[in-house]
Amino acid sequence: MILLLAGTAEARRLAHALAEAGLPAVASLAGATRDPAPLALPVRHGGFGGDEGFAAFLDAHPVRAVIDATHPFAARITARTHRICAARALPLLRLERPGWGEGPGRRLVASEAEAAALIPPDAVVFLATGRGSLPAWSGLRAARVHLRVIDPPDRPFPFPGGWEVGRPPFDAAAEAGTFRRLGVTHLVAKDSGGPEGWPKIEAARALGIPVLLLRRPPLPTGLCTVTTEDDALAWARSVAASFRSV
Ligand SMILES: NC(=O)c1ccc[n+]([C@@H]2O[C@H](COP(=O)([O-])OP(=O)(O)OC[C@H]3O[C@@H](n4cnc5c(N)ncnc54)[C@H](OP(=O)(O)O)[C@@H]3O)[C@@H](O)[C@H]2O)c1
Repeated sequence: MILLLAGTAEARRLAHALAEAGLPAVASLAGATRDPAPLALPVRHGGFGGDEGFAAFLDAHPVRAVIDATHPFAARITARTHRICAARALPLLRLERPGWGEGPGRRLVASEAEAAALIPPDAVVFLATGRGSLPAWSGLRAARVHLRVIDPPDRPFPFPGGWEVGRPPFDAAAEAGTFRRLGVTHLVAKDSGGPEGWPKIEAARALGIPVLLLRRPPLPTGLCTVTTEDDALAWARSVAASFRSV
């Protein structure tokens, strides 16, 4: 069977395509969100338990190939999967959508610290960088900070401002409404790419709000990568055909 490491919209679409094609596959979710959108494949939930746990999972299940369709910023699982699959000569494909890159009103920054240094102290900052990024923002000085989260947090927000609870997708009108309601002057996001996150960039551009995009972590050297679900499905069909021919 194929193990699909999921947790993104494209993994959800690929799960659907694999199921439609009748390919034997199971999806894996980290358990990062409390109520994830359903997937068309059987799903296992939660981390594997580090390198040993992942190796034990591969030993215990008939996994013949892996597709890593995790988020472009989920660097640890991508590096670990590459390392362990390479050591076992287990076919691995990375599905990673292209980033948005620089464009009108938006620039790439290497880190949260670089972004913080570019933000004036009277700014109202909207962080679309995920709850896990919060420790990296300790150097940020701003009048107010709003950080978007999917699940309501159970701890106080460490800046003037607050959590902004919301479940994607958001369209550009909704994003613009949020930015206006909060009086946002600066948007920081990850260079995630893909259509799902684009409306916030579009809304910021329409409102003249500067956007700082965090640069992606680099991919491991030698990782076989495609950027579309169609290419990932073609790869899955070809590895599944090789399962049948041995
Ligand atoms: N980082 C982001 O900006 C972002 C945005 C949207 C969605 N996500 C999704 O959220 C998940 C966690 O992201 P992260 O940045 O925390 O990842 P990470 O730092 O690369 O991985 C942290 C740990 O989460 C577990 N994990 C990650 N993806 C998994 C999967 N698909 N199935 C089972 N376990 C998984 C692994 O735990 P063990 O070591 O215990 O196996 C891994 O060591 C990913 O699946 C990612 O696609 C991340």
